[in-house]
Amino acid sequence: MIEIDCGLKSRIIAAGQAHLLRYFNELDEAGKRKLTEQLAEINWENIPVLAKDYVLKRPETAIPADLAPADYYRLQGNEELFARAEAKGRELLRQGKVCCLTVAGGQGTRLGFDAPKGTYPIGPVSDRSLFEYFGSSILRMSEKYGAKIPWYIMTSPINREATEKFFREKKFFGLDEADVFFFTQGTMPAFGLDGKLLLSARDSLALSPDGHGGTLLALRRSGALDKMVKDGTEIVSYFQVDNPLVEVVSPRFAGLLALENSEVGAIVLSKTGPYEKLGNFCISSGRTQIIEYSDLPDELAEKRNADGSLQYSAGSPAIHVFSRKFIEGLTSGNSLQLPWHRADKKIPVLDGNGNTFTPAEPNGVKLESFIFDALPMAEKVLLLEGNRAELFAPTKNLTGVDSVESCRKMISERNAGRLAAAGVAIPRGADGSLNAEIEIDPRSVCDDEDAVILVKKSGLKAIEPGAKVVLE
Ligand code: UD1
Repeated sequence: MIEIDCGLKSRIIAAGQAHLLRYFNELDEAGKRKLTEQLAEINWENIPVLAKDYVLKRPETAIPADLAPADYYRLQGNEELFARAEAKGRELLRQGKVCCLTVAGGQGTRLGFDAPKGTYPIGPVSDRSLFEYFGSSILRMSEKYGAKIPWYIMTSPINREATEKFFREKKFFGLDEADVFFFTQGTMPAFGLDGKLLLSARDSLALSPDGHGGTLLALRRSGALDKMVKDGTEIVSYFQVDNPLVEVVSPRFAGLLALENSEVGAIVLSKTGPYEKLGNFCISSGRTQIIEYSDLPDELAEKRNADGSLQYSAGSPAIHVFSRKFIEGLTSGNSLQLPWHRADKKIPVLDGNGNTFTPAEPNGVKLESFIFDALPMAEKVLLLEGNRAELFAPTKNLTGVDSVESCRKMISERNAGRLAAAGVAIPRGADGSLNAEIEIDPRSVCDDEDAVILVKKSGLKAIEPGAKVVLE
């Protein structure tokens, strides 16, 4: 019969969380085992501190007095530097020194999709998935540069199995299975507003993914860093699962990181307005940092320069490059705790009869850490402006801003732009809007050069008005 270990029990009680054991004796063996395993994972000494600092009081994001907008390499005026960076990036790719890293812990909940977000069928015509966009691009790039580009994918405990199953069903999109490395992020228990941890069932804590801040440490603990050393990987190209337009490896971005000997880099986009939901690039005490949109005070978001432009106009599409050495250094003691961020949520809990229900109002607090909080830990950060239309189409909602709808339009626009540059006539309405849905298989085109080759090979001269096409 399973009994809870005495030491563990007294630590739970000392942390003021004895209520978690209320149903323990009524559970069957499997339930007891499940709950005990969850309880054993928790750092009980830390729980009262987290409750006091993040739950019972609302943590304020400290805005330093010397905070200023961060400067960055602009798209215009750096042509010579960019040419050298691109050459360096291509060389790194040919030498097999670059890998990709995707954070894919999220579910498709906001899309009304009960599966890993990466499996969402985003292709405007073909319905190809987000994962296929990345996988096929990686395959094309590795073919083009004649070297492997290993792909690291962070899942959550909730979607790990379903994610791997999807990859197997899709035959790893043609990639060598040995070059795809899955690892699982950690979880955090949710707190009630009174600082008590919540049960989501009689035999389970209310656990949720602990944010992508745990990625760097998880790379070490999962053995991914060891694999990178073995493979000779020097640069990690990082992107989120929700952005199919991302260039899985940008030769310019990776090359510039290496040329400048920077530890970490971030792509910068000009924000569409003061409240666009992007992290904001700032600088304080000589350190670059990102302040999340939800944490930037309105008076700073609204602050304008003499010419009327926003002062805090540099937004983050969450596209980064990391030097492997930086990740190794940060996690060398096998520990790295980035700051926690609080989110108030409606968390399924037990009612008085021990049955699970979801409340109508937020009833608890989830804590998450963010990977970009590692930026201030770097001596040298590279900030590089990117072209929004070419690299950023986030899929956060079903309709409206940053949605499936807007993302599909942007994919078609991006492809139309590439085809037009290669000499293909594109059908447009009087207002300039695109009158076609155009998909290009990322397996054959990973950059502008590939698009030119595709057009030449196919002899394509024009896209018909109203057409829905997939070019392969
Ligand atoms: C995120 C960024 C924001 C950026 C914007 C660009 C954060 C906190 N904010 O906002 O600065 O400007 O994207 O689109 O990330 N994920 C995990 N595990 C987790 C939580 C998230 O893997 O525990 C992954 C998700 O699968 C997704 C990414 O992290 O790929 C971002 O998460 P999301 O919740 O969509 O962040 P946003 O609020 O959209």
